[in-house]
Amino acid sequence: MERIPEPELMEEKEQVISYDEADFSEGEVNLINQINHYLSRKNISLGEKDLIVDLGCGPGNISEKLAIKWPNTEVVGIDGSKEMILRAEYNKNISNNQKKLKNLRYICSDIRDIKSINLLINRDVSLLVSNSLIHHITNLEDFFNTIRSLSSKITVNFHKDLKRPLDEKSALQLKTQCSKEYNEILTNDYYASLRASYTFKELKNFTLENDLLSLDVFEDGDKYLIVYGNV
Ligand SMILES: C[S@@+](CC[C@H](N)C(=O)[O-])C[C@H]1O[C@@H](n2cnc3c(N)ncnc32)[C@H](O)[C@@H]1O
Repeated sequence: MERIPEPELMEEKEQVISYDEADFSEGEVNLINQINHYLSRKNISLGEKDLIVDLGCGPGNISEKLAIKWPNTEVVGIDGSKEMILRAEYNKNISNNQKKLKNLRYICSDIRDIKSINLLINRDVSLLVSNSLIHHITNLEDFFNTIRSLSSKITVNFHKDLKRPLDEKSALQLKTQCSKEYNEILTNDYYASLRASYTFKELKNFTLENDLLSLDVFEDGDKYLIVYGNV
């Protein structure tokens, strides 16, 4: 199936509310466990001096879980949508875990605006994460340029996203499944996201052709892809 890009930022209020109100917790907990497992395998433990950055953080679901999992480490969530960042701040303020989220802050910025991001984070990133971001980025160069610029020798990258279905029929089947659980706005967004997603081959070839050989791409089941490693 051919890739059909979707708008990068999620800026419409209704779209943001629908996304925020959906329960994706199973997949989110799974991602935190995958990251934790990967760091353990690499003998890396994150502490006070470390910094975790969550790119395209949306309403903060993953950022909050990272902040709770690594309570001594500063976590910064970055999103280019003001509406999403407002929602993330709101969620942090009403969270039952508010006391545990003192290590978490948000920045409203496009992921390409490396200069301002660097000014605002002001130190090396230890763990650079994203979830469901890559498919929003129209050109893969922009995503990889950003992670290259934000990474140093110590940075572990871990980016998970949807995998583009093989054909339109499979995409429509996934859309129907989604509609049984979620509202129309979210279902349409999910379908647009599936069509905007990249394939394993596209991501893998990009790393091979652009001197990013320390990054690997992994197919996580039949729906997800993970780009991980060092840059
Ligand atoms: C599908 S949401 C994922 C949110 C969150 N990571 C999660 O897993 O729940 C994708 C987010 O990426 C943000 N985004 C897309 N393109 C971006 C860009 N170029 N710069 C900053 N944020 C971007 C969108 O605004 C949206 O909030």
